[in-house]
Amino acid sequence: MVDTASVRRTMLPPGPRRPYTVQGLRMLYTPEAFAGACRRRYGDTYTLGVPRRPVTVWSSDPALARLVTRLPDEVSTATEWNAAADFLWGPRSPFVIEGEEHRRTRRLVMPVLRGPRVLARREEIAGAARRAAAGWSRERPVRLLAEMRALVLELMVRSVFGTDADADPLAPRVARLTETLRRTTLGSLLLPWTRHVPGSAYRRVLRARRELTDCLEAAARARAERDGGPGLLGDLTRARADGRLAEDALADQVVAFLLGGYATTATALASTFDLLLHHPAALARAEDEAVSGGEEGAGDGPWLEAVVRESLRLSPPAWVFGRALRRPVEFGAWRLPAGAWVAFDVPAMHRRADALAGLGAEPDAFRPERHLARAADGRRRTGAVSSWHVFGGGGRVCPGSSFAPFVVRTVLAAVLARVRLRPLRDRPGTLVRESTLLVVRDGVPVSVSDR
Ligand code: HEM
Repeated sequence: MVDTASVRRTMLPPGPRRPYTVQGLRMLYTPEAFAGACRRRYGDTYTLGVPRRPVTVWSSDPALARLVTRLPDEVSTATEWNAAADFLWGPRSPFVIEGEEHRRTRRLVMPVLRGPRVLARREEIAGAARRAAAGWSRERPVRLLAEMRALVLELMVRSVFGTDADADPLAPRVARLTETLRRTTLGSLLLPWTRHVPGSAYRRVLRARRELTDCLEAAARARAERDGGPGLLGDLTRARADGRLAEDALADQVVAFLLGGYATTATALASTFDLLLHHPAALARAEDEAVSGGEEGAGDGPWLEAVVRESLRLSPPAWVFGRALRRPVEFGAWRLPAGAWVAFDVPAMHRRADALAGLGAEPDAFRPERHLARAADGRRRTGAVSSWHVFGGGGRVCPGSSFAPFVVRTVLAAVLARVRLRPLRDRPGTLVRESTLLVVRDGVPVSVSDR
């Protein structure tokens, strides 16, 4: 007799049987609808095949996310998953290095993303946001996504150059090249063969990436004589001088920092504004808190913190992250084989009813107040936050996981205190998947008036 349990254990979860090209095209052009149809038919975890990619298990099950993100690199790695964009990252990027080198270089980057150096930037960030808002048109619609990109890019470049940002002639070039890379990367990922086509987006990415490396190296060399200087560039220049950072790793680290942090945080800001502007009571409370200011300054109050948590839950800016398996992994009835990829559908994960345990009902509703609930002992309820994966998980969890919400809260408060924003449509915009990001399709058009 066949032991069906053991047969299933050697199998992947079920999934569509259509040709890989059809599955690939549906995932590319209608990812939301396709993923929804697969979830309804096959459940939280299903298998897809797309051309030129290993077979991929898609999942919105937080238990599988916890399992595979906590396994060591020898079993489950982000390297092969992230290597789809290796032409952009470079060989020493945190997205592709592993083991001791990964842990060591991560420690070098953290001081600009956590703790006193971040808190000391509150007024600088708020000031940049106020200046940006003061310059927005009062007559024509303003698209907040574009404005947030410009603002966050400026802030990220300031993280890199520190207090030198206004004086260093290389800083504006770094900003321009980072923006070129953001705009051209998706096309290159989708059409890798175009690397042979003169003038293609792929070639523009390669050229911009080379120029960015040259620029960062020139900036680091100029600082080497004066002990590195301020900002991330200073930290990394010093680390390279005393052997804590490999000679050829500096540019790859900075590029990961800029590209990992810039579009994601700008997307989070635009989505948060969009949700807030379509919930008048929540907006009024946010405006009150922004005008009165938190204890420590802009963005420090509990309501804006709750707003940002709820927005990141409902509109996670990075909708997918993944791992490649190097050894088989057993999960429930399945035995996921070595070589398979596992991809996590983050918005679907966050909208599961069980992801809210302790935080009220209606997972599809925007309700910041759910994050203010206190348990009987007076402690803030955090609900099933372990089933949220806004920032990925395990040893590769996003290093910007506290910096990004800090920036979002600070910018929100500064903008709301400076201007009055009103939405130009009657409901929040449709979220679409662009590369790995979940963005509001029309870029959040608003009207702006002085407060
Ligand atoms: C709301 C904003 C952000 C979101 C949603 C986000 C999301 C993510 C996700 C999902 C990952 C993959 C983690 C994994 O594989 O487990 C990641 C990795 C990463 N992020 Fe972020 N991120 C944000 C902001 C930032 C910022 C501000 C920075 C830096 C300034 C940053 C730098 C990185 C880097 C370097 C990695 C690679 C980490 C590694 O593999 O060690 N991100 N991020």
